[in-house]
Amino acid sequence: GQTDYLYYQELDSTNNRARVLASEGYPEGTVVVADMQTAGRGRRGRSWYSPSNQGIYMSVILRPVLPLKEISRISLLTAVAVAETFEEELNLPARIKWPNDILINDKKVAGILSEAVTDMDGIEYIVVGIGMNINNQLQEFPGDFRTAATSARAEDARPVSRVKVLQGLLARLESHYLDLLAGSFEGTLKKGKSLSVAIGQVLRLDTINGFLVGKAIDIDENGFLLLRDQSGIVHTIISGEITILPL
Ligand code: BTN
Repeated sequence: GQTDYLYYQELDSTNNRARVLASEGYPEGTVVVADMQTAGRGRRGRSWYSPSNQGIYMSVILRPVLPLKEISRISLLTAVAVAETFEEELNLPARIKWPNDILINDKKVAGILSEAVTDMDGIEYIVVGIGMNINNQLQEFPGDFRTAATSARAEDARPVSRVKVLQGLLARLESHYLDLLAGSFEGTLKKGKSLSVAIGQVLRLDTINGFLVGKAIDIDENGFLLLRDQSGIVHTIISGEITILPL
């Protein structure tokens, strides 16, 4: 459909801008892109390193009309679209670290920050924010990053066009999202499972309530992680941070 693309040389955060625009009534599919962010946000209160001319910093407004239990599928769907973009546009072996880190060779190359805003009727809109490290050279990353980071450039040495990568990403996002709205999430789910580094691994899960150790046995139809603990109980994990444990 008709889409608003809003490009900014600099923003504090594309998610912040998209939230303001969404609250002003901008439609589903509005895309906010910045060349750099001065206060790029990550999950769990972390910041997202967002230098000019290097990465893709992008947010999209969604207004999904879906049963509440299907909303979480958008998180897996986004991770699949991002991983496919690295694989198919850049020929890099990207994997998904559930719920939504994208890794290449075990290092983080992209992250996703989804924020849902609710009103009396339920979810009013969702802002899906995506940050991808593209042309960064490794020595440019700040040393205090908790997760080891990488970029497309660092994995492959060639600088690439961010516009081309962004177009590839938007096309994949749209295609998986339209599938979801049309009630066919199967293909996306299957792809998400096959790209996931967690399934079959023993891991530690940290949530706001504490931690759990177990084996990841599957991702269910809503994108939740099924974790079997030492006593055999299977937990359905909605969110959290996983660390794959060495065996
Ligand atoms: C994470 O891995 O913790 C999520 C990182 C998300 C970063 C992107 S960059 C574009 C959008 N705007 C933000 O402020 N954050 C997201």
